[in-house]
Amino acid sequence: THKIILDTDPGIDDAMAIFFAFQHPEIEVLGLTTVFGNVPVTMSARNALTLCELAGEDIPVTQGVGMPWVGPESGYAHFVHGDDGFGNTFPEASKRELDPRSSAQFIVDMARQYPGEITLVAIGPLGNLALALRLEPELPKLIKGVSIMGGAAFVPGNVTPVAEANIWNDAHAAAIVFAADWKVTMFGLDVTLKTPFTPAFLDELEARNDKLGGFVKKVSQFYVDFYSANRDERVCFFHDSFPLAHLVHPEYFAITSGHARVGTGELDRGQTVIAPAGSTPSPLWNEANMVDVAVDVDHEKLEQLFISTYA
Ligand code: BDR
Ligand code: CA
Repeated sequence: THKIILDTDPGIDDAMAIFFAFQHPEIEVLGLTTVFGNVPVTMSARNALTLCELAGEDIPVTQGVGMPWVGPESGYAHFVHGDDGFGNTFPEASKRELDPRSSAQFIVDMARQYPGEITLVAIGPLGNLALALRLEPELPKLIKGVSIMGGAAFVPGNVTPVAEANIWNDAHAAAIVFAADWKVTMFGLDVTLKTPFTPAFLDELEARNDKLGGFVKKVSQFYVDFYSANRDERVCFFHDSFPLAHLVHPEYFAITSGHARVGTGELDRGQTVIAPAGSTPSPLWNEANMVDVAVDVDHEKLEQLFISTYA
């Protein structure tokens, strides 16, 4: 089994990913570490507890970074995820309690407890991972790998022409995470936007699992409305589930790699720039970390995987 910490800002597609991780027999979730992003961090943390309660999972949930590494709060994605992060369905809040540690401290503690065994799966902005690197400079040696939903390598962004939301929300933190001495695999808009999911697919999830699939379908109405506003068909995207699907089925994905840097300037804020090995003579690039970038996935196999995992 894969031991993971899931770093998240729930969030509708975060809920989809969290349930997938809970349901998959080869994934062991050591805890949910929350961060600001789609919603303020206090709401992220409450929402994560609510999802654990719904799924009957008794694992630690921590509250983490509530602000970008540099600069003011940049606003939340309520227009995508609703006022409550759950598509304005306002599910009953859990009365469970948070683990008192910060998300970054929890990451460090677990990494020390299970050296070399944990994959950090980050599906929100990267402040907790950046802070954990500051708390424990040896963290990269203790972690097996880092898989993130974020970035847009060879396609346009979804916040600016060049930046995807998770990276844009905390670009300086992302730059730290991409530059650290560990293996980053990036599941950005290059791959997540290639595979639209239909309302019929959400119906299928509900049919397979009334409780969790039913919840996903219910909270997704608002999310589908958002994604369908400028399209002819009704669809939505499962962004945050991709790194988890890759963990259990890497053979479904096409991956390329390159030297990666994250922009922190005004125009390039949050841009993930990938230079294929040897393509640029500049030291700025050649010395930058190599990251793996997912660029395609077998859509049918992915659908089957989601459906069978929810069953
Ligand atoms: C990412 O941003 C958030 O809105 C989603 O939860 C996902 O993590 C997609 O750009
Ligand atoms: Ca997310």
